[in-house]
Amino acid sequence: MVKLITAIADLRQTLAGARAAGKSIGFVPTMGCLHEGHQSLIRQASLENDLAVVSIFVNPLQFGPEEDYATYPRDLDRDCQLAVAAGAGIVFAPAAAEMYPQAALAYAAVELLGDGLCGKSRPGHFRGVCTVVSKLLHIVQPERAYFGEKDAQQLAIIRRLVLDLNMPVLIVAVPIQREPDGLAMSSRNRYLAADERKRAVVLYRALQEAQRVFAAGERESRMLKERMAAMITAVPGAAIDYIEIAEPQTLQPLENIQDTALLALAVRFGKTRLIDNCLLTEGK
Ligand code: PAF
Repeated sequence: MVKLITAIADLRQTLAGARAAGKSIGFVPTMGCLHEGHQSLIRQASLENDLAVVSIFVNPLQFGPEEDYATYPRDLDRDCQLAVAAGAGIVFAPAAAEMYPQAALAYAAVELLGDGLCGKSRPGHFRGVCTVVSKLLHIVQPERAYFGEKDAQQLAIIRRLVLDLNMPVLIVAVPIQREPDGLAMSSRNRYLAADERKRAVVLYRALQEAQRVFAAGERESRMLKERMAAMITAVPGAAIDYIEIAEPQTLQPLENIQDTALLALAVRFGKTRLIDNCLLTEGK
């Protein structure tokens, strides 16, 4: 049976008991609406730790005024079932008033890394992510915390947050989970109409095409990005937010690829914004 906890004080007390009993804690922060991608994080956390803690919290701080905070899908019963099935021992699902009892005056942020890629069209988003992840890490105090590689920019930013602020936690990256046609799993895929869902596979196909051209020797970012843009703009209803090739840790754009680069993109179908990425690695 999963233990569902909603109060920070209760969670602290339960985890203090687990720690006193010598248990290691693995933590998976989520915004709920769980799918196989989240379950792969939870499975890994429960394999590598004595206790897997999953948080389910739709964090208002990381949504822009025009974004889907109010309509973000929420189904706690279903999420708890999926979390238990993947090995969670505790689900922490606080209300917004528990996490933010008063308007916050303190924030956490990582400079520079959040300026490009998704940060351009989502100002303030990564400050919201860093703030809630910092709060959750302080509350849970896990040995390890698990993040999906689908959110490559978020992962790089969290790694830097933890490094720069000496947070005693190991950040574990978990590979992207894909649907059979290649579309990266995401809670927002459910917003897609049936025809958009079919067309959304173009993100993955464009990444694959870039990997093929890279493997054939192309090292100029502009050429790779143009090839992808041509594929995506040929799909009705697909609007490119960005296609970027960047250094994987600093996220600074690269004109030419030396050995490894992060290739990331965001594409809109109507109001739904999808992201995906891969690494371009010499010799692969
Ligand atoms: O990746 C997410 O779902 C969120 O950004 C996170 C890390 C749970 C913070 O709210």
